[in-house]
Amino acid sequence: MPWQSGALTVSAGSLSCSCAGRSGWEQTFSNPSKLAAGSAGARCRNVGHSVESQSLFAYNDTMMILGIESSCDETSAGVVRDGAVLSNVISSQLVHTPFGGVVPELASRAHQRLILEVVGEALARAGTKKEGLHGIAATHGPGLVGALLVGLNFGKAMAYGLGIPFIGVNHMEGHLYSNLMAPSGHAFPFLALIVSGGHTMLVQVTGPFEHAVLGQTRDDAAGEAFDKVAKMLGLGYPGGPRIDAMAKRGNPQAVRFPRSYLNSDTYDFSFSGVKTAVLYHLRDNGLPATEQGIADLCASFQDAVVDVLVEKTVRAARSTGIRDITIAGGVSANSRLRSRLGDACRQHGFRLSYPSLEYCMDNGAMIAYVGWMKLTRGIRSPLSLPAVAALDLV
Ligand code: KG4
Ligand code: ZN
Repeated sequence: MPWQSGALTVSAGSLSCSCAGRSGWEQTFSNPSKLAAGSAGARCRNVGHSVESQSLFAYNDTMMILGIESSCDETSAGVVRDGAVLSNVISSQLVHTPFGGVVPELASRAHQRLILEVVGEALARAGTKKEGLHGIAATHGPGLVGALLVGLNFGKAMAYGLGIPFIGVNHMEGHLYSNLMAPSGHAFPFLALIVSGGHTMLVQVTGPFEHAVLGQTRDDAAGEAFDKVAKMLGLGYPGGPRIDAMAKRGNPQAVRFPRSYLNSDTYDFSFSGVKTAVLYHLRDNGLPATEQGIADLCASFQDAVVDVLVEKTVRAARSTGIRDITIAGGVSANSRLRSRLGDACRQHGFRLSYPSLEYCMDNGAMIAYVGWMKLTRGIRSPLSLPAVAALDLV
């Protein structure tokens, strides 16, 4: 990594915290690489007095972080050592399938059932025991609060029991930096299109934790629109991969669905219009009787979404002058989005990268990775860190 600091050597000593991290909940130690034994760090600006850390983390050049993700319907854990992914275990909850969407209460209960096994498996595949960890990171938002609480509290309890730092991670930062986990990942600056079931945003990233949101959805996220349209077409849940598969056999010009905000100057998105347009089309024409008819609707809807995503991303890259583009989040697995954005990038001379499929969807490795980025910068979180449903990317 171009920005990675060198070997860190922190000796045990009395550290003080500054609670004025980006999120307001982070405790930032002075540059850990410069901390010497017994050095007093910054004062805690929020409460106005020095706070001795509960556990002193002594690490050398190796830092192994466990990451836990439970914000929605994937129970996942991964282990990262010095920026390299050692394991990534994802258990997708099938319990929601009959309902055509995620049922929050069922998600929390499923996380509860799965988390111990998933974390154990992530440690085993990484070839380590919990005692080998130097820190534990967990998603603390955005997401379903009941679901978040399971992973968050599990991570906190484990960190507390082991006497190692706990690091709260914004789920969107996980997606944002997931591209850096790949060997061919970008250097800074890059432009990230994050497209998932809960979010659609364009983010300009100039350095680690230096990012600005250029635009985001004003209503439905791209993945949400895919899931809702799939439900209308009787394709089941999750709808994105099913529409993607059906659309391969369909004609994208069969029906002209609206491309919202395409002609406006904003980088914001809106996908509820295209979803409603599909609903009205079905109301007026009925559900197609043939599989080809369904495939045509899938391809037409998909192109309406992809057109807007590609056009706005290219426009943002041209106006910011950034030549490296990355896509992340569940919808970045979409084959049409990948090929159309790939074509556009080739045409404009931009470099496009995306994480492998297992890092596109919600996963613990990306949380461990951001946890590692934070801890190597001396950033950790208090055990009082809350789960926040609508946590912003700041
Ligand atoms: O990032 P993710 O796993 O979870 C959230 O943070 O939301 O994204 C899940 C979303 C779902 O809406 C799913 O339908 C969508 O990603 N998705 C896709 C594809 N694979 C997953 N959408 C379109 N095409 C796909 N191939
Ligand atoms: Zn996600």
